Amino acid sequence: MKANTKMKTRVVKQPAPVAPAKTQDTGEAISMDEVWIEGGRKLRGQVPVSGSKNATLPVLTATLLAPGIYRFTNVPALKDVSTMLELLALFGVKSKRDDGHALYVDSTNAHNAEAPYELVKTMRASIYVLGPLLARFGEARVSLPGGCAWGPRPVDLHIKGMQRLGAEVEIEHGYIVARCKKLTGAYLPFEISSVGATGNLLMAAATAEGETIIDNAACEPEIEALAEFLTSMGIKIDGIGTTRLTITGTPRPHPADAAMIPDRIEAGTFLAAAAITGGDVEVTSVEPRHLDAVVEKLEEAGAEVTVHERSIHVRAPERLNPLRVTTSPFPGFPTDMQAQFMALLSVARGTSTITDTIYADRFTHVAELQRLGADIRVDPSLSGAPVMATDLRASAALILAGLVANSETKVSRIYHLDRGYERIEEKLQGLGAAIRRVRA
Ligand code: UD1
Repeated sequence: MKANTKMKTRVVKQPAPVAPAKTQDTGEAISMDEVWIEGGRKLRGQVPVSGSKNATLPVLTATLLAPGIYRFTNVPALKDVSTMLELLALFGVKSKRDDGHALYVDSTNAHNAEAPYELVKTMRASIYVLGPLLARFGEARVSLPGGCAWGPRPVDLHIKGMQRLGAEVEIEHGYIVARCKKLTGAYLPFEISSVGATGNLLMAAATAEGETIIDNAACEPEIEALAEFLTSMGIKIDGIGTTRLTITGTPRPHPADAAMIPDRIEAGTFLAAAAITGGDVEVTSVEPRHLDAVVEKLEEAGAEVTVHERSIHVRAPERLNPLRVTTSPFPGFPTDMQAQFMALLSVARGTSTITDTIYADRFTHVAELQRLGADIRVDPSLSGAPVMATDLRASAALILAGLVANSETKVSRIYHLDRGYERIEEKLQGLGAAIRRVRA
């Protein structure tokens, strides 16, 4: 991003249509409200953050593991939370909010059912019912979530993990169908750090017989919170907050109450809002240790940040310095703060670079920020992935792409390649490529 004069932005869009719009498939009314902003004011004052959405969602599905009544506090009033409660209602789980942020969940009469495409596709985190359903009922039928606006988001790690615990998993007409007589503890080494897969397998392993070890587990605060909650349900988990979790299953976990942790991404968003306006803001009700990477970047950009026990105070200069930001799993810089920092850096002095190593294509906001005048260039870069050769020249194309990808690419079905290229890997090695043939 090149230097850019501070933008005075007024977001003016077409007036809202008279009839409420409906989502294409659920027929549910979606809000066509708009937000209009008169830019140019420095933000000042205090702002509290709500409970964490991404911690709440798996905790809610964990209520399927043990019948009974649960009370949760600091539950954010968000659409995704209502969607999860709607999904759980299909399994006979009742819920009731009390003063807005307290929530009672009654899973006494929970039964098995299907997690339908219509709901799962609106909220990918619905996949979190897979582990608990399998653990509790020995069977689960959950729609595949499908892609999202910024690329495919696979669930292979969830599935592989369930299989290693002893489940038979099939994909039938777009549904994950998992069955088991019983689950047995296993060693689960993850190739990639995945928040969702770690959470799902923690819950699947909760009632498994014996010990399960998740290696390269995600250690995001939301996973830590889920693990703490499962512990209070009577499940033994060692290594909470680290990348190696050891779960000793228990046949009968029991209900427990929990307070949701603060939403670190909401907090980070307010810190960025303060910084982009050259403001002076204290973000309260936060857990500062969850935001170290964000605070570090704000300081590096020239903001003055004071960290208190439960709040973070940021005083920003007129203009920030440029940054190099690279997202990575916790405690690295979160991918969920990447877009907000892109906005911030588009008005910083000089050129900044942002790399998202979690989701290489998570850049749909670029075009819209450009419409506001931001000077952003997206460098085409490839990130390694497991890929399948479909014909001879396609195999060669995948190998060429793998030569410039920024992580390892594994090309399968290379028998196509062997039809037309003699010892291509050796020839490329001779040219200095890091390529090898791995025999099946
Ligand atoms: C969660 C968060 C999301 C955040 C993301 C990364 C929730 C509800 N959502 O999403 O806001 O952006 O973590 O911090 O908590 N992957 C696989 N196979 C799998 C699963 C994941 O290859 O089976 C890959 C993904 O494509 C991605 C990486 O692993 O590149 C991390 O994804 P993951 O941590 O699983 O994200 P979510 O749990 O879906």
